[in-house]
Amino acid sequence: MTEAQRLIAEAATAAEQSYSPYSNYRVGAVVVGSDGVEYRGCNVENAAYGASICAEANAITNAAAHGVRAIDTVAVTCLDGDACSPCGNCRQIMREFGVRRVILTNESGEPVEYTLDDPTRADGAERTPGASIERRRG
Ligand code: THU
Repeated sequence: MTEAQRLIAEAATAAEQSYSPYSNYRVGAVVVGSDGVEYRGCNVENAAYGASICAEANAITNAAAHGVRAIDTVAVTCLDGDACSPCGNCRQIMREFGVRRVILTNESGEPVEYTLDDPTRADGAERTPGASIERRRG
């Protein structure tokens, strides 16, 4: 098992704690803090849907609440439906803590690595529209 596969497995475990009665879409995330500790998060929804918290934001704020101020890697996966990708708000939260590497999963559940800055995948294979928008704004 690669490190990326292990982190995605951790994220899947985190997703089991998801509180998502409105979307029924369970998402989990794990971050590795600069202290070397892994912090988990899951999505926590609200009847006021905009007050919902994404798994990535939960994991990063969990790390921050333990004193972490720098995060290199975020791994995210979901247990239901299509593969997920971080929203703009979460990308901004990642930016704040210096996230460089984002590990998502493809349709087969295999890890795929992205950088936060570059519209190409970390392996250079393909473009992601959201990331292109981010670069134009930057
Ligand atoms: N969600 C996440 O937690 N992370 C993502 O990367 C994509 C979406 C959550 C938000 C909401 O609770 C549910 O998934 C449906 O969008």
